[in-house]
Parts: sequence; structure tokens; C-alpha cells
Amino acid sequence: MSMTRTAALRALSPSVAPALPRTAHGAPATVAEIARGLLARQAATSPKYLYDSLGSRLFEAICELPEYYPTRTEAAIFARHGEDIARRVGTGATLIDLGAGNCAKAASLFPLLRPKQYVPIDISRDFLNEAVSRLRQRFPDIAMNALALDLSGPFLLPPEVTPQRRVFFYPGSSIGNFAPHEAIAFLRRVRENASHDGGLLIGVDLIKDAAVLDAAYDDAIGVTAAFNLNMLRHLNHLVGSDFDVRQWRHVAFFNAEDSRVEMHLEARTALTVRWPGGERQFARGERIHTEDSYKYTRDSFADLLAQAGFHADAVWTDEAGWFAVMHARAASA
Ligand code: AVJ
Repeated sequence: MSMTRTAALRALSPSVAPALPRTAHGAPATVAEIARGLLARQAATSPKYLYDSLGSRLFEAICELPEYYPTRTEAAIFARHGEDIARRVGTGATLIDLGAGNCAKAASLFPLLRPKQYVPIDISRDFLNEAVSRLRQRFPDIAMNALALDLSGPFLLPPEVTPQRRVFFYPGSSIGNFAPHEAIAFLRRVRENASHDGGLLIGVDLIKDAAVLDAAYDDAIGVTAAFNLNMLRHLNHLVGSDFDVRQWRHVAFFNAEDSRVEMHLEARTALTVRWPGGERQFARGERIHTEDSYKYTRDSFADLLAQAGFHADAVWTDEAGWFAVMHARAASA
């Protein structure tokens, strides 16, 4: 619709794509994926582009906001029910941390879970290796094998990951970024890597009053707005686009019908974004969909787990019922 035909063709068809422009710093596949998203009728970008180094720090700041309850609530559940959780998970396991980042959440559980082996997985190798070398000094008795893996496709754990007692750890409601059918596909891949005696310990954000959800993703001092808008700077860096951040505003709301919080960036005025190899016009008020954060009930998530081949056998929540930590085992076939 609002792009030139040649720009669209170039972006969609790698065979006619121009040589990688000098202004782009992303891999060709990344540039092509972003261009495709920007040129779609409903423009959309993957939430992974929220996390450049400033974006990661803004997310850390979000976790300290009074409105953003998930991090705090999950930590309170671990603090209050830690011993019960450890009894369910069992000590001496191989703890596999999916999207470990700085490994802080798992490390805070080490004294309770006392894993035999810790396998943090993250796409960012350097960040991970740094975090793990610090952890090794603090916990010399736990074998640690950091893996730089992209979990967005099929993955197979290497043989140095002990095949027995594999417990997957996926906190923070990161699962919420997947649409339900994608979440099932992802958890099936986890299930394929789990051992029959292993399990899954996962944090899930629950459906609640829309006003609470709206505020959590549109806080009073604008940290989440900065986090969302920062994606445009990151995209400029990756594809050499000329987004002017001041022309956009942060929009976030709970979509009850689809049970998800949506984040968008909305054009404040009619504008054109250009990058080497393409351009896109936006009408005033037109949006780029930047993130979904799906919310579940305990039952709807247990059902999703079942569809992925897991059987939920324990749930811990806070008193208000805002967040759940769930334990599941590989269901016997
Ligand atoms: C990191 C995906 C769990 O969905 O709550 C926070 C990201 N986006 N505020 C979430 C996020 C806006 C967060 N997750």
C-alpha cells in the first residue's frame, strides 16, 4: 500500500536485494526480516529488537517500577514458597536456564535448589560468559556449562548436559511474548530435550484487572515508553533507517479478547521512513506493533502445557493471584 513497488520487491525477494548497504549493521537476514515487518500492511517488528544495550538497561529499570508488578511478584513467590518449590523440583538436578541473561534469578535459587549442574542458555554469548565466570567463583561446587543458543528454532542440547534430571527454568513470564500456538511449539521443543525424570519451572503472568495491566505497560514516568521508543534507534542502527523518535508515541493496552497486552508505536503525524532499499509511509495515527505479552489463567496455562506434552503438578501464586510459578513434568506418552 504505502511503499513503492520496487522497494517492496527488493525487501521481499533476496535475489533482487541490493548489496548490503554500508549504513546497516545487522546481518542480511536481520535486515530483511525487519524490512519485511515494516512493509507489512500492519507494520510489526519482533520484540527481540527492544533489547540493545540501552533497551536491556531500560528493561531492568522497568522491573523496578511500582506499576510493573511481575518481577517483584514472582520474586515474592520464590521467597515465600522456595522450600516447597525445592521439594517439588528436587535438589541435585541439572538446571537449564532458558534465556538466562545475567543469571541472577537462577543464582538466587541455588541455595534452595542446590543443582548439580547449571546450564544457562542465552543468545548473547559475551554477556553470558561474563555472568557465568562470576558465578563459578561464588558456587564452585556447581558444574556450569554456558550455551550460546538461539531458542527461537529447534535446538538440541549437547552431550555435556547431563541427560538425567533435566529441569528447565523459564521465569519472568518470558513465555508471554509467544502467541499461544508458538508457545506450544516452543514448549514441545523443550519437552523433546527434557528427561523423563525432569521438569519445567516456569513463571506465568495472569489475567487481571485491565487498569493494572495498562499501568504496568504504560507507567507514569515513561520508562516503558522510552523502552518501546528506543526500538526505533535500534532499528536505525540495524537497517540504516531514518526513524525520528520524536515523531512517534508509545501506546500500550490490554486486549482482553486476545488476552494480551499489546505495545505499539504510533505516528504522531503523517511521515515517511526510509532505509537503504526501502521506504514506508505512515498516516498520522498508524502504528507499528512492537510486542505482545500474553496473559493466562492457571487453567488456561495448564491446558497449554498439556498440549506441549507437560503435566502441571504444582502452582504457586501471590495472594492477589497476579502471577503464577508453575511446575510441570514431561507427561508420559
Ligand atoms: C520480558 C517479555 C516478560 O512482557 O512483561 C515489559 C517485556 N514489555 N514491559 C513483559 C516488557 C514491556 C516483558 N517480558
